[in-house]
Amino acid sequence: MVLVSVMALLLRVISVLSVSLSSQAGLTVEAEPGDDVTLWCKHSLTKSAHLFWCKHTNNSVPVYIACKYYSLTLPLNPCFFIPESNRSVMRVNSTFSSLTITAVNLSDSGLYYCSSLEGKYMIFSNTTRLQIKSNSLD
Ligand SMILES: *[C@@H]1O[C@H](CO)[C@@H](O)[C@H](O)[C@H]1NC(C)=O
Ligand SMILES: *[C@@H]1O[C@H](CO)[C@@H](O)[C@H](O)[C@H]1NC(C)=O
Ligand SMILES: *[C@@H]1O[C@H](CO)[C@@H](O)[C@H](O)[C@H]1NC(C)=O
Ligand SMILES: *[C@@H]1O[C@H](CO)[C@@H](O)[C@H](O)[C@H]1NC(C)=O
Ligand SMILES: *[C@@H]1O[C@H](CO)[C@@H](O)[C@H](O)[C@H]1NC(C)=O
Repeated sequence: MVLVSVMALLLRVISVLSVSLSSQAGLTVEAEPGDDVTLWCKHSLTKSAHLFWCKHTNNSVPVYIACKYYSLTLPLNPCFFIPESNRSVMRVNSTFSSLTITAVNLSDSGLYYCSSLEGKYMIFSNTTRLQIKSNSLD
């Protein structure tokens, strides 16, 4: 029992470690089903704008996972046009945005990145591939 919880803790520490490397380009984060995963992107907003987290899988167009209206002067606001999810919580500061997904499962696998609209241009951050391993301990 103790061994199992130490193991679970270790796995959690490992997934936190791998996540902390994820702000660079094209990295892969591996997690086990049930893990909480935090992904990061660097944004470059110099004025108020909507900031999106997108998810791209092999067989689909990108989908919006979360969105905030980032303002230089006001607190962070939800985007009224994208429903807030309890499972995927987005945070933003002046440099980074994080997306915390609670209790991931296989269907959370995919390529994640941030996007914003700056004037006429869509800006994309570097990507993180989230790979959910099938649980070999079961
Ligand atoms: C994306 O990754 C490349 C290569 O590591 C890096 O040079 C670039 O600054 C990164 N871009 C952002 C927006 O973080
Ligand atoms: C989020 O959690 C709250 C409190 O547990 C619940 O009332 C609400 O219905 C949940 N919303 C969604 C979208 O699951
Ligand atoms: C934004 O959050 C990241 C992660 O917590 C932190 O490393 C960074 O210093 C923060 N930046 C600012 C400007 O607060
Ligand atoms: C993963 O979780 C989501 C949200 O709870 C659920 O809709 C989906 O059916 C789950 N997928 C698998 C493969 O368990
Ligand atoms: C997408 O395709 C690549 C290469 O075929 C594969 O390694 C990866 O697991 C796939 N990702 C998903 C989320 O299906």
